[in-house]
Amino acid sequence: MQIITIVGKASGREQKLEVSEVDHTQNLLFWLRDRGITIASSCDGDGVCKRCNIQHGWLTCQMTVGEFLIQEPSGRVEVGYL
Ligand code: FES
Repeated sequence: MQIITIVGKASGREQKLEVSEVDHTQNLLFWLRDRGITIASSCDGDGVCKRCNIQHGWLTCQMTVGEFLIQEPSGRVEVGYL
């Protein structure tokens, strides 16, 4: 079982989420939202608004959970609000 750690940039708060094998194919934006993490978006995942970004300017709507974990093996997700 892998862990993704959500870190609020302003608050420094952390929340840990368990990642199962099945989760790897899920879109990161919607996977986070389904777990109550607020991610900004005005295009609802079309890749246009660029508001769903996390560290390095990565767009959560344009990657799966598995792709994110390859790019960021620590599993750390930095969000504006937590
Ligand atoms: S939700 Fe708009 S670019 Fe990702």
